Amino acid sequence: MQQKLVEGSQPRSRRGLQLCCFKEPPSRPLSSVSQLQVLHKEPAMAAEPNETCYDGNCAQSFQFYLQHSGEHKAIVQCVQNVLPGEFTRIGAGKSSLDVLGVGSGGGEMDVHILSLLQSTFPAVPITADIVEGSSTLTDNFKALVAGTAGLQKVPFGWHIMHSGDYEKQVKAKGDVKKFDFIHMIQMIYYVDDLAGTIQFFHSLLKNNGSLMIFIEAENSGWDTLWKTFKNELCGDAIKEYRSSAEVTACLRKLGLKYDEHPAPNSFDITECFDPESETGRRLLDFMTAKDFYKSFTPEIRGKMLELLRNKCSTQRDGKVFFNSDLRCILVHA
Ligand SMILES: C[S@@+](CC[C@H](N)C(=O)[O-])C[C@H]1O[C@@H](n2cnc3c(N)ncnc32)[C@H](O)[C@@H]1O
Repeated sequence: MQQKLVEGSQPRSRRGLQLCCFKEPPSRPLSSVSQLQVLHKEPAMAAEPNETCYDGNCAQSFQFYLQHSGEHKAIVQCVQNVLPGEFTRIGAGKSSLDVLGVGSGGGEMDVHILSLLQSTFPAVPITADIVEGSSTLTDNFKALVAGTAGLQKVPFGWHIMHSGDYEKQVKAKGDVKKFDFIHMIQMIYYVDDLAGTIQFFHSLLKNNGSLMIFIEAENSGWDTLWKTFKNELCGDAIKEYRSSAEVTACLRKLGLKYDEHPAPNSFDITECFDPESETGRRLLDFMTAKDFYKSFTPEIRGKMLELLRNKCSTQRDGKVFFNSDLRCILVHA
């Protein structure tokens, strides 16, 4: 899932999507989803500067993907394994804790993370700042916070903007708020300057803090699909697909210390091989970030489907499961 939120440029959507910029939608696997309202703006609007393509129909496309992929469940499982120990280390001896979410979308993962931090340090006040380019998803996030009892006393700072604009704003202001924990979950695809973005957010970490990045794993189905068909998939919105391999190479180049943790996931794409299936079509649109049946020749579609079945997935009980493994990368202050 991905776009680019640079002023005056076309926004991208997840995994380099152009898709969201012209049609389609998202959803969510957690129980909290039921409380959420997907605000539907008809139809795909021209992107305003600083909007992400996660507004409007793109937000629905993402929701649809979340409902079918189990992605949030995989992230929650990983976070539950990794963060309790990490939070204990980060928060030791601190009298307040400040968290920054970048590209938080509807906030389901943020709410989970903040609740985990609260349960680790019940007596310590927490603040949360959110930098998110989509106003549609931020409205969903606000509704989720309002319905989550434990979070109602947490002060939230909402920065509805592109991370690059936040960087400019912070630098212009001079008075820089620093954070104990910063996370970027499934959003780093959308920034142009990977090293510059990581460096900037890393510079906002307080003593003992950490920056958590979730991204599709090296050699996952996404990595295989997007790198094999980079000529067809990259270009408009995303010039270059990146997986965990590119992020860790960048961290090594910057000389930053990090740990990597697996977040295994797979989801059923069997319906993608049935041209009559609406679910299959919507999954293919999301996975290719394009209107699958309109954007590619029959020959390319055939090759993509063959790759999806045989190189990006495993087959069992007559079904095809796409490898959607993620990595959680914890970068230390
Ligand atoms: C794939 S969604 C992930 C949302 C959320 N983190 C999750 O995992 O459910 C990517 C999110 O990042 C936002 N986004 C993408 N690039 C951004 C940027 N440069 N600055 C701020 N938000 C960005 C999009 O609007 C979208 O909400």
